[in-house]
Amino acid sequence: MIGRNDACWCGSGKKWKKCHYAEEAPQTDFQKRASDYLKQYQILLKTPKQIAGIRQACLLAAQVLDKTCKMAKAGVTTNELNAYAEKLHAEAGAIAAPLNYGHPPFPKSICTSLNEEVCHGIPDDVPLKEGDLMNIDVSVILDGYFGDCSKMVKIGEVNPEKELVYEVVKECLRRSIEILKPGVLLHEIGDIIEDNAATKGCSVVNQFVGHGVGLAFHEPPQVPHHRNTLRIPLTQGMTFTIEPMINAGVRESVIDPANQWEARTKDGRASAQWEHTILITEDGHEILTLLES
Ligand code: MF3
Ligand code: CO
Repeated sequence: MIGRNDACWCGSGKKWKKCHYAEEAPQTDFQKRASDYLKQYQILLKTPKQIAGIRQACLLAAQVLDKTCKMAKAGVTTNELNAYAEKLHAEAGAIAAPLNYGHPPFPKSICTSLNEEVCHGIPDDVPLKEGDLMNIDVSVILDGYFGDCSKMVKIGEVNPEKELVYEVVKECLRRSIEILKPGVLLHEIGDIIEDNAATKGCSVVNQFVGHGVGLAFHEPPQVPHHRNTLRIPLTQGMTFTIEPMINAGVRESVIDPANQWEARTKDGRASAQWEHTILITEDGHEILTLLES
C-alpha cells in the first residue's frame, strides 16, 4: 500500500500526502470536520492530544488567577500582584502570554482593570483601596498550549453600581456557557448576554470580543458578547473564550492614548468582566478554567 510519504502515483514527483492524498485517503469524521472548519471559518478543531495540553494550561491559568485574587487586598499594589503571578508562572515552567504581546508590547504579565477600566489595565504602583472593583486576567503558555481566564475581586465593600455589574457579568457568563453544545450557533452567546444585561439596565461592550484559544493566544473565531449574526455552529473540539465586559452606563470605551492598551468606559461608570476558556465536547461543553473543588 502507498504510504503518505511515498511518491504520488500520478508521477508529479510530490509526496502522496502533498498531492492526491487529500482526495483519496479515508477520512475519519474528525478529520473531515477539522478540514471543513479550517477552510470555512479558519477555526482549528483540537485533537485529543492537543486538548490534553490545553487542559493543563487552562488549569494552571485558573490556579494562578485564584491565588493572585486571594492576594488582592487594600494596600497591595497591582505591581505586587503582577510580580506574584510572575513567580507562579515561573514555578510552573510557564510563560505569561500578555508580557510583550501586541503593538505596542503589553508591558506586564497580567491585566488588572479597576472600576471604570473595561479591560487591559496595566499593573502599577497605586495601592488597592476599600471600594475598588478589579478584574484580574491571567493567560498562560504551558508546553506551547494556551489557557485564558479572568474574574472580579471586590476590595472590601463596593458601591451599588459596582455590585450590579459584578453580579450581572457573572450571570451573563454563566447563562451563556450553560447552552453550549454542538449545533448551537455562535451568535446565541451574544444573544443571551445582551438579553440578560439589558434586563438589568446594563450595556454590553462590543469593542472587545472573546476568541478561539489553545494553540495560539488569539485564534478564530471572534466570539462577540453583543447581539450579532454569526451563524457558525459549535462543534466538538472547538476551544474558545467567552469574556463579557458589562458596563453600568454606555457601552463605549476609550483607549488610553498614553499606553494604547487601557480601555475605560466613556462615561466613567463602572465596568466588570469575567472569562473562561471552554471546550465543546461530543454532547455539551467543559469549562477548562474551572478549579476542581
Ligand atoms: N483575555 C484577554 C484577551 O484575550 C487578555 C489580554 S492580555 C493582553 O484579550 F496582553 F492582550 F492585554
Ligand atoms: Co481572552
